[in-house]
Amino acid sequence: MKTPLSNKTILLIVTGGIAAYKSLDLVRKLKDAGASVSCVLTQGGAQFVTPLALATLSGEPVSTDLFSPEQEQRLGHIRLSRQADLIVVAPATANTLAKMAHGLADNLASAVLLASNKPILIAPAMNSQMWASPATQANIATLQTRGIHQVGPASGMLACGEIGEGRMAEPDEILQAITALLAPAAGPLAGRKALVTSGPTYEPIDPVRFIGNRSSGKQGHAIAAALAALGAEVTLVTGPTALPAPAGVPQTIAIQTAREMLDACLCHGPYDIAVCAAAVADWRPATESECKIKKEGEAAPTFSLTENPDILATLSQAVPNRPRLVIGFAAETDNVLDHAKAKFARKGCDWILANKVGAGQGFGQDSNEVTLIRRNADGSLAATPWPAASKQALAQKLAKAVAEALE
Ligand code: C5P
Repeated sequence: MKTPLSNKTILLIVTGGIAAYKSLDLVRKLKDAGASVSCVLTQGGAQFVTPLALATLSGEPVSTDLFSPEQEQRLGHIRLSRQADLIVVAPATANTLAKMAHGLADNLASAVLLASNKPILIAPAMNSQMWASPATQANIATLQTRGIHQVGPASGMLACGEIGEGRMAEPDEILQAITALLAPAAGPLAGRKALVTSGPTYEPIDPVRFIGNRSSGKQGHAIAAALAALGAEVTLVTGPTALPAPAGVPQTIAIQTAREMLDACLCHGPYDIAVCAAAVADWRPATESECKIKKEGEAAPTFSLTENPDILATLSQAVPNRPRLVIGFAAETDNVLDHAKAKFARKGCDWILANKVGAGQGFGQDSNEVTLIRRNADGSLAATPWPAASKQALAQKLAKAVAEALE
């Protein structure tokens, strides 16, 4: 079995959220990947999972108490923070994130985090209002500026019955983020450079208005993380999204317009792989008004549009530095396969992932269903449907297919 995390030690801090039950599975997956895992469990965490369960799965004693003479003697909070290659906080509650942001150390978990000189990965999990609250968002912003890595949260049905953002990332996704941080060189894409475009573009009409679209960036960001987890050095060029930079991706370039996206794609590289997952606006207003257009008189303003550069087509043609593998998406509302095949021919890329978008499908969702279109050895087109899966699972499948194609 491949064990990309062998010789790696992970300190897993489990704090008090219902998502703690998923951390048991994370421990098992980390052990399967070859890692040594020690766990710290907060009092709140112990309301959801037991020290015995964590100890049994990790094969190590679990630490719970800052003031226990026995635990401090065995592995004090300083040693706990020193012996790990990475500290993972999963689930990370709003309370623990607040303590981290403000330097509190009133329990073992927060004392270990404050005493840490090691990279830290957080997997936030909480009710969506707690996540969206200005206090939590300010704390997250503080932690991000300190270089703390983050995975999730996802949106969906929460334990409290509400629907929104705040679900802890799935154990597979956390494992992928950990692998990308700790063992990029162990993956089959080590030494490869990859470019990923993600999110929408915003095309300005005037200083306050723009033409945009509903792309959330979830699929593109997941692809960037999945390629990085297999060892690729990923540059992510992203339009405006609410997502944090994915773990393990060293370079994220934020742009607004299609022309800025093209410039960002062309000014670095060359790349071995390019995945264009961004929903780039096909057109932009021909002129951008310098001042806000006023509502004057009866007549609504009219705009003429001009075509944007096609980034996927440009990268597909960019000789001599053409990436070996250029992959595009075809998001369509109707006749998906026919449109995707026509696009495949027009753009000159190597693979196209066709997906249906519209109400409840594609944009903004957490899952996706695609058909991979590529050429057979005899030049004919092969269309392979992939079953519906989470955007992370789909990204992992794509990254694996990319690694196999470049072998
Ligand atoms: O032409 P359409 O926008 O439907 O094509 C979709 C594919 O082309 C996606 O992979 C998208 O990222 C890419 N694209 C691009 N630049 C554009 C338009 C689309 O890279 N201007």
